[in-house]
Amino acid sequence: MPFQVALNFEDGITRFIECRPDETVAEASYKARINIPLDCRDGACGTCKSLCDSGRYDGGDYIDEALTEDEAALGYCLPCQMTPQSDLVLRIPSSSAAARTAAATHTATVAGIKHHSPTTVEFTLDVDDREALDFLPGQYVNVAVPGTDQARSYSFSSGPNQQQTSFLVRIVEGGAMSGYLTERAAVGDRIEFTGPMGSFYLRELTRPALLLAGGTGLAPLLSMLERLAQKPVAHPVHLLYGVTTDQDLVHLDTLEDYAEVIPGFTFDHCVADPSSSARNKGFVTGLIDSGTLHDGDVDVYLCGPPAMVEAVRGHITSLGVTPASFHYEKFTPAAARETVEAAA
Ligand code: FES
Repeated sequence: MPFQVALNFEDGITRFIECRPDETVAEASYKARINIPLDCRDGACGTCKSLCDSGRYDGGDYIDEALTEDEAALGYCLPCQMTPQSDLVLRIPSSSAAARTAAATHTATVAGIKHHSPTTVEFTLDVDDREALDFLPGQYVNVAVPGTDQARSYSFSSGPNQQQTSFLVRIVEGGAMSGYLTERAAVGDRIEFTGPMGSFYLRELTRPALLLAGGTGLAPLLSMLERLAQKPVAHPVHLLYGVTTDQDLVHLDTLEDYAEVIPGFTFDHCVADPSSSARNKGFVTGLIDSGTLHDGDVDVYLCGPPAMVEAVRGHITSLGVTPASFHYEKFTPAAARETVEAAA
């Protein structure tokens, strides 16, 4: 029974390959015609050194010059030597182009369009080759906006194992996707997208997690929650969801449902508009203290507009807390995403 190995390249493009327990990741990559960086293929040079974000493996034979004990303890590994013992997620030290691969293109049919409010629309797709579409919870795709020559990036709000895929869109004046969804979109439309992409994906949780969403930045976190509903973890997970107005609040019922089925999952939300009927008025920073950060023993996942991301980073720094890991993705309605992993 082969395992699934996600190869996440430096440009964010991710390819999934199958790897048997008795073959190395490098051999499986070669069979899939993906040229990950290799030189000696013998555990001697360190050229293939990659970072394993999740999964178990046998590291194989190698010398200290290729991979030190300290590096191995941090999760670095040698694909030319390692064999999988579970599904793996590897960060490969090259671009996808250098590995002679590229993001996959998929075609789909629009299966649903839900107007949550004047500011937020969700669309759902039936992907033609659904079994060929793999992604990590938190990743995004570039969607070709029907009837235009433009593409926009959207994170999956659905989980990797759900048959239909869905996406949340903030409606903006003059926006290409906004215009399509509010004026022309119909169930049955054909649509094309490329991906998956991005390094903002859920790692194995080995400590408490704090998920932070700004507006439609909730989408990738919903995908992560769907994964956690399928594979519960033994650590508390808290989500804070901030929006500008009451109209922007969506999926509170979905979050309630997840709170029922995911052990240790809690959430809260806030609305910046002072006239909101929400219990918490203001920004998510008002809900973050050293307690919600577990005094640093926490993995933080943050997706929102640039101003929110910067405000949260500044706030955490001002608290004097350094999270064990901090993954964030900034998005703007019409721009490419910027995904970063850093200390606060
Ligand atoms: Fe030399 Fe893997 S290619 S250590």
